[in-house]
Amino acid sequence: MSGEAARPIAGWFVEFDVLPVAVPAFSDVFDGVADAVASVEVAADRWRIEAFFRAEPDREAIADALALVAKGGGWSAPAASIRAEPVADWVQATYRRFPPFRVGRFYIHGRHTRGPAPASTIPLAIEAAVAFGSGEHGSTSGCLLAIDRLRQRLRRPRVLDLGCGSGILAIAAAKAWHVAVTGADNDPVAVRTAGDNARINGLGRGFRGVVSSGFQSPRLAGPFDLVLANILANPLVRLARPLAARLAPGGRAVLAGLLVGQGPLVFQAYRRQGLIVEQRIRRGEWLTLVLKRKAAAGEPAAAGCWRGEEVRRRG
Ligand SMILES: C[S@@+](CC[C@H](N)C(=O)[O-])C[C@H]1O[C@@H](n2cnc3c(N)ncnc32)[C@H](O)[C@@H]1O
Repeated sequence: MSGEAARPIAGWFVEFDVLPVAVPAFSDVFDGVADAVASVEVAADRWRIEAFFRAEPDREAIADALALVAKGGGWSAPAASIRAEPVADWVQATYRRFPPFRVGRFYIHGRHTRGPAPASTIPLAIEAAVAFGSGEHGSTSGCLLAIDRLRQRLRRPRVLDLGCGSGILAIAAAKAWHVAVTGADNDPVAVRTAGDNARINGLGRGFRGVVSSGFQSPRLAGPFDLVLANILANPLVRLARPLAARLAPGGRAVLAGLLVGQGPLVFQAYRRQGLIVEQRIRRGEWLTLVLKRKAAAGEPAAAGCWRGEEVRRRG
């Protein structure tokens, strides 16, 4: 028997490439099924979805689920590769997959990264785990840029991260302003993961995790000066009224998880609640909106039209 064959198996990776627009739908296939899911941009028109399983996955079930999603979206079914990773290789592979990177002033790295963070960055240690939010996705990085830009405009804001996933945005806000933050998600596993990441980042009691679908939990009564919500366009539209109601005068909503073409739809829903657009941040196909609740009745309405600053992604 060769040494290679004798090595114990750490887990299985399922990998395939899809169009940027199809990333959320195909990632959802692994929600609650895989032990971890990540999506990484590999080309302008191509994203790689990687799902990790500790136990051998059911290949037929995966192929069927991918075919179903493809049919629903009118895409061709991706050809997924499934391979076992021996223990040592898997650890190394994880390190290679999540090299540190920067978004604005934030320096996002795994716990395995050695050495100090670059000068004048805000380090965020995010473990690639079972919740969405490693930072690479255009919707997450758009929110991080928005937080970076709001740093000077908000003073010690009361922050809610709705749909916190890994907790990356809540942690970024906590570190940017040195404030306690609330992170909520309808997935209890995500809330637990966010709590773990908050501890890794030294937030301690500065992170309050809440399991809530939308604003159902009374613990999200607000008011908040900053609500971060990287969900999808339709849930964001549905949440417009309760979200706006919880924003303090002058408060900001950072909305993401929408494609560029869905911007007007989401913005209209929030404009009806009296919010005005302050910034638009574009990262590839993904758009992040920074909306503001008017501070006073007399604030100029001109800022409410569909325009604003647009930032294209690096490179
Ligand atoms: C795209 S991930 C964003 C994760 C992280 N905030 C980020 O920016 O990378 C969306 C998260 O929102 C959660 N979610 C979706 N709909 C929700 C809802 N109606 N209420 C609360 N959480 C929701 C999902 O479980 C998921 O963790």
